[in-house]
Amino acid sequence: MLTARIAVVVSGGGTNLQALINAQACGKLKSGGIALVIADKAGVGAIARAAKAGIPCEIVVRKDEGFEEKVLASLERHQIDMVVLAGFLGILSADFIRRFGKPIINIHPSLIPSFCGKGFYGLKVHQAALDYGVKVTGATVHYVNEVPDGGKIILQRAVGIIASDTAETLQRRVMEHAEWVILPKAAEIVAAQIVREKESNL
Ligand code: GRF
Repeated sequence: MLTARIAVVVSGGGTNLQALINAQACGKLKSGGIALVIADKAGVGAIARAAKAGIPCEIVVRKDEGFEEKVLASLERHQIDMVVLAGFLGILSADFIRRFGKPIINIHPSLIPSFCGKGFYGLKVHQAALDYGVKVTGATVHYVNEVPDGGKIILQRAVGIIASDTAETLQRRVMEHAEWVILPKAAEIVAAQIVREKESNL
């Protein structure tokens, strides 16, 4: 059966990568297979998760010269059809997006267009939601374009805020009840579209 070859780009603990690995293992992610993990720095938890799952993993240090060139070469070498940014903390250039030319999706821990864009990542997103006093937040999976967190929205899922929430408790709940649910679903939607296109070209 044709499947889309997926690369997952990570910067941290890899819990969103793990959600993708689990979804693939239980058949919820069936139109795509994780063929590669790219970590943008050494020593992050996502690397061990990839190793445990037997997925090839490359470390391409984001702060090093030629980061985007190296990532593009790796994606080409592994014949990747789509990229999932899962807890990735970098911003890809418009040139990278154009040169890759295939779907790139990202998980952002808020309901875009709230609390997104430059400077909104990790705990900062949840602290901003608490500071503003919103009663509902959540997560968004969107296509990546040249505008940070600006691409077409694919899926969203809401999470209620409770009075006792701190940025840490809210982040955890958004990860568990929103990010880890919609990222695999969105990956399946995009991978299935790629497979349909591959089949129509046969
Ligand atoms: C978390 O802040 C999460 O909300 C965001 O990326 C960070 C780490 O994710 N999506 P992960 O555990 O590395 O997937």
